[in-house]
Amino acid sequence: MISEKMVNSLNDQINSELYSAYLYLAMRAYFESQNLLGFANWMNVQTQEEMVHVMKFYDFINSRNGRVELGAIEKPPVEWASPMEVFEAVYKHEQFVTDRINKLVELAQGLKDHATESFLKWFVDEQVEEEASDVAVIQKLKLMQNAPGGMFMLDNELAQRVFTPPPAAPPQ
Ligand SMILES: [Fe+2]
Ligand SMILES: [Fe+2]
Repeated sequence: MISEKMVNSLNDQINSELYSAYLYLAMRAYFESQNLLGFANWMNVQTQEEMVHVMKFYDFINSRNGRVELGAIEKPPVEWASPMEVFEAVYKHEQFVTDRINKLVELAQGLKDHATESFLKWFVDEQVEEEASDVAVIQKLKLMQNAPGGMFMLDNELAQRVFTPPPAAPPQ
């Protein structure tokens, strides 16, 4: 049986992952308003990945006989000044998420909850990838500053990103 403290913190993380999905959906809408449809595609994939994260926490709480509890999701911003400002906000947000995941790991360790600690390992690795892919886009945006056609090229590149659904869970 999982402790109440751990379940509460995992439920908070469901809320945080839902906010991430909500934030990236808002960013998608911003890019669509700018007719930057490749950037919008990148955000659409990001939103879907965050929903996968939501369901991983959801399923894990259930599998430990905990109770999933959903809270209100904060309103994300509507406008940004530029694609660079958006990606800087994404990077900052993901660093914040990494910090939250690390705190969950520390809580699981403190409670000697090895199952939760093992479950969280996937998220520790995922955050390394998340931050790296944000930095990659920021670096490209910096490189192409003042380069004519740069935004068009990057928009085309980001249009190529595809969402890969997670493999189906083995039957329990
Ligand atoms: Fe996430
Ligand atoms: Fe994320």
